[in-house]
Amino acid sequence: MLHIDIITVLPEMLGNFLNCSILKRAQDNNLAEICLHNLRDYSPDSRHRRIDDYPFGGQAGMVIQCEPVDRAITFLRTKRQYDEIIYTSPDGEKFCQPVANQLSMKQNIIILCGHYKGIDYRIREHLITREISIGDYVLTGGELAAAVMADAIVRLIPGVIGDEQSALSDSFQDNLLAPPLYTRPANYRGWQVPEILLSGHEARIREWELQQSIERTQLLRPDLAKETDN
Ligand code: ADE
Repeated sequence: MLHIDIITVLPEMLGNFLNCSILKRAQDNNLAEICLHNLRDYSPDSRHRRIDDYPFGGQAGMVIQCEPVDRAITFLRTKRQYDEIIYTSPDGEKFCQPVANQLSMKQNIIILCGHYKGIDYRIREHLITREISIGDYVLTGGELAAAVMADAIVRLIPGVIGDEQSALSDSFQDNLLAPPLYTRPANYRGWQVPEILLSGHEARIREWELQQSIERTQLLRPDLAKETDN
């Protein structure tokens, strides 16, 4: 079972998301376990539960201090051995399908959500094993990044998605976008479903889908099409 510990200053932001739909079912079926940890619980300051301070050097904004993060990670490490201790940050390695695939095969992962201006760099140097960005834009915190990663990772675990095939045939698994999908009725307000899909000719339909995938990838994501050529 994949176990993910998420350390955050906003556990309430993630609770609902992680306990809905497919992520909830994965946890109910013991295929994954996702635990939220409030960084403030590890503050050495039990009265104000403070976890941040002004940066040395006088820049604007607050920085998460070493001690609460170190205490949180040290505590979690008494319970299990971690394959990765991930920090969410816009300057990390870009999250993509191959990274999700890799992480879905791990046993124990910590995701530390960044907040404010960031965390004391010494945490990144000494405790973090991997820094991941979900894209070239700046979020107010790492919580959405942690949610995106947990979702993309957990759905890849065998058994989480009903149809075993469906995670493997996703867009991006082979650097191809998915072909278009249609359902009944075959004619809606004169908008016709492609004839081939109604033909019942399995092999020709698969061929059409592959062709559509290739064309859509070349048109919409030429960068992906290029990766496949190499
Ligand atoms: N924290 C703030 N922005 C982020 C991003 N783009 N990816 C991951 N974590 C972040």
